[in-house]
Amino acid sequence: MTNPRATGRGGQKTGGGPPDAIVLGIETSCDETGVALVRGDGTILAQALHSQVALHAAYGGVVPELASRDHILRLLPLTETVLGQAGLAWCDIDAIGYTAGPGLAGALLVGAATAQGLGFATGIPVMGIHHLEGHLLSPLLDPSAKELRFPFLALLASGGHTQIMRVNSLGDYEMLGDTIDDAAGEAFDKSAQLLGLGYPGGPAISALAAHGDPRRFDLPRPLLKRPTLDFSFAGLKTAVLTQVQKLKSANALDETARADLAAAVQAAIVEVLVAKCNRALRDTGLRALVIAGGVGANQALRGGLSELARDQDVRVYFPAPSLCTDNGVMIAWAAALKIASGHAPQAAGAFSVRPRWPLTALTE
Ligand code: KG4
Ligand code: ZN
Repeated sequence: MTNPRATGRGGQKTGGGPPDAIVLGIETSCDETGVALVRGDGTILAQALHSQVALHAAYGGVVPELASRDHILRLLPLTETVLGQAGLAWCDIDAIGYTAGPGLAGALLVGAATAQGLGFATGIPVMGIHHLEGHLLSPLLDPSAKELRFPFLALLASGGHTQIMRVNSLGDYEMLGDTIDDAAGEAFDKSAQLLGLGYPGGPAISALAAHGDPRRFDLPRPLLKRPTLDFSFAGLKTAVLTQVQKLKSANALDETARADLAAAVQAAIVEVLVAKCNRALRDTGLRALVIAGGVGANQALRGGLSELARDQDVRVYFPAPSLCTDNGVMIAWAAALKIASGHAPQAAGAFSVRPRWPLTALTE
């Protein structure tokens, strides 16, 4: 078993590259402009983030063209900010990592073009990073993950993805389960919209759920009992819609009903995610599970998985909540780990982005 984090000073090196490379990370795949400077030993030297939540709020979801334009405005000032915070100059940077996909095409192009342009101007080599690989590796930044060894399981739950992966080694990811329709984050977001809450829905549902009774409404747990690691959340949204319509026609969609429905939505999603993680641990015999992606910030999910860890005597690793949602740190860190394991960043030049890019096809 190899230690995925063994890249630091005094640590055992996993490959050929410099273990303490300083990497500038750029994330622009969706509605967050994230920039960070991370050293190969896992030290976060500086980070800055601009969330576009307010920009998209009026539309109930992300408007791709607005997202791209805002990334253009934010990216260079944020880069200056992190360099200033860390007290570093361009000559101190060893590589620039940027999100090359998956995500919104225009938004990805802004990050990629900026990274390549900066690389071209400064001579710093660049590396395109898979957004989900960034999420997947971010729990390794936590000091609690020092003991983590390959292989381990990972739950990736974000706005666009809900997947259970077997992480065999850096870059070798095997998909064990995937959503056949909506992602878990999407189920939070769509339910929130039906309840008249803002975007993103996850934090809004979770705040409202704190005052609600999860047992009042009986919502479906799709595929829960089936012997599969796949997920399905589209039926949940339809069930919420039906409840909302019933309550509205009875003039009973008051604050209590909204809180109870929010609590029921959260309970249904959390129960399914925890049960599938449990099944994956049992099926594979693996003892370590890493949680990644925006939904990983959900406290009820963290509670359910911590309980699972106690009951089944397994370890569950969570990134800090701020590292669960999109950020530049995870992109810089993924690039730093790759460099330490012998993947060389490339001189800036021709590039493309991959709006659709399966994590299991990293080398294609
Ligand atoms: O990973 P992420 O920031 O972006 C994507 O790559 O999609 O995930 C965003 C998703 C959104 O659907 C959002 O509602 C959800 O993560 N989310 C949460 C929470 N914070 C963010 N879902 C549940 N509870 C939260 N606290
Ligand atoms: Zn993400």
